[in-house]
Amino acid sequence: MKEMKQLFVSKTQYNNLQEECLIMLREFIGKYKWTLTEDKEQSDVIINIVEGRFFIEIFYDKSGEYLLQDVDQKFEIKARFYKCLASYTTKKLPWGMLQGIRPTKLVYKIYHRLAKKIVDTNKSNTNKSNIIDKKEEIINELENRYMVSREMAVLAIKVASFEQQYLPQTVIEASKKFSIYISIPFCPTRCHYCSFPANSISNWEDKMDEYVNGLISEMEAVLPKLFMDNQLSTIYIGGGTPTSLNVEQLDKLLGYITSTFPMNQVKEFTVEAGRPDTITIKKLKVLRKYGVLRISINPQSMNQTTLNIIGRKHSIDDIYKAYEMAKEIGFTRINMDLILGLPGESIEDVKYTFDRIKEIRPNEVTVHTLAIKRSSKIHEEIEKYHLPNDNEIKEMLNISRKVLTSELDYKPYYLYRQKNMMGSYENVGYCLNDNPCIYNMETMEEVLSIIAFGAGGITKLVDNKGKVTRIENVKNAQSYLERLDEMIERKNHKLG
Ligand SMILES: C[S@@+](CC[C@H](N)C(=O)[O-])C[C@H]1O[C@@H](n2cnc3c(N)ncnc32)[C@H](O)[C@@H]1O
Ligand code: SF4
Repeated sequence: MKEMKQLFVSKTQYNNLQEECLIMLREFIGKYKWTLTEDKEQSDVIINIVEGRFFIEIFYDKSGEYLLQDVDQKFEIKARFYKCLASYTTKKLPWGMLQGIRPTKLVYKIYHRLAKKIVDTNKSNTNKSNIIDKKEEIINELENRYMVSREMAVLAIKVASFEQQYLPQTVIEASKKFSIYISIPFCPTRCHYCSFPANSISNWEDKMDEYVNGLISEMEAVLPKLFMDNQLSTIYIGGGTPTSLNVEQLDKLLGYITSTFPMNQVKEFTVEAGRPDTITIKKLKVLRKYGVLRISINPQSMNQTTLNIIGRKHSIDDIYKAYEMAKEIGFTRINMDLILGLPGESIEDVKYTFDRIKEIRPNEVTVHTLAIKRSSKIHEEIEKYHLPNDNEIKEMLNISRKVLTSELDYKPYYLYRQKNMMGSYENVGYCLNDNPCIYNMETMEEVLSIIAFGAGGITKLVDNKGKVTRIENVKNAQSYLERLDEMIERKNHKLG
């Protein structure tokens, strides 16, 4: 069979249609190979839209060709494309046609439409109703209209109904609140799967003081007027690896935050920490001193061979030591990030990781499925890595769900998908004792504004109609420091 690589979609008025079809194609076939082309002659798949009629042509061994006509809506084009690819590959995608659509947002949208219908019919108030009350109708729509598998539909509904208890339920309520994200774009080394901002500590050691000062100037110039009219919900310091800062730098940053922010309003204060090899007892004590509630100590895998393969230059023992130190000085809300589908990992390796997680039982576990990010080392040298196949990924995810939800009673509380994920699955955050990370839910659902500081920080302003406006800081840490005034001006201009 000829290897297909090029997708042509003629230009249309439909937002993101080309991009969403490309993602769908990658999810069905040869994930990392597909690109969009403007050259029809060179294409292996053509979606041609001419005056409201559209044609899909798939060429492979020249015998297979599909021709579809008379469709004039973006949804229909995607749906027919999905059906073509499903019949061609004899596959189904776990999340069906949800490329470019957040599953939980879609659940909310369907729920609100159904709930409004009841209000319109009965003239009664739906404030007391819950997504779970509409479970079967929502599943039905996800399965039949969007081709989502039942298992994924149930997961999205569970997550959305959990979130419903914690997030503001009206845009008016949400418009009076905001949260803060602070980016620390430094790491000891870059992990091979990662595309997050991760400047090496050794290159930046001499300039990290300047970076912390830059952050403080940016916050000082933007926040005071926001504090006057709005309520601060959560604070999240992420990265990169925030504990790449030394004790004095952490002390200065957290000291500034706690002395100038209205901390009495804050529901949750997270410092992501992350890489176990950056966590020391002195740094943890600084975090405690300033009232940080929640941290992450991330294994990704509990197998040493895997950590070596993915370039996480620390030991399994470092994970246990960091966790013990954190418990010892009183942290109760500790998250652990894991990634399924890591190179070289077998189903047995994943079972081993979850056996260790069973013993540790952190308050939260976030289970990621490996995404092959374009700017990661794995993507650059994909042929050098042995990656699990889709069936193995499915089994690994089944293990994670079985251990966390059936055996240990964790609840899935947030969910998101990324491009180029192995098996086209998802990332899920699980928590114990109904104690989720509120910031994670806020940021996924885009219900309230998040004001972001530092290199790579993306501010999202949500207005009182729910419309989201993005303001991006530059990603490069050096450019961020050089163009700090411009970053401040960008935000203040939009904040009015
Ligand atoms: C912003 S990163 C920061 C975490 C922290 N620096 C650390 O490494 O412990 C948050 C999490 O995203 C996940 N992640 C990063 N790149 C990923 C990828 N390509 N595929 C799946 N998960 C990824 C990892 O689990 C990581 O812990
Ligand atoms: S996974 Fe964490 S430590 Fe590794 S490069 Fe990405 S942000 Fe840095």
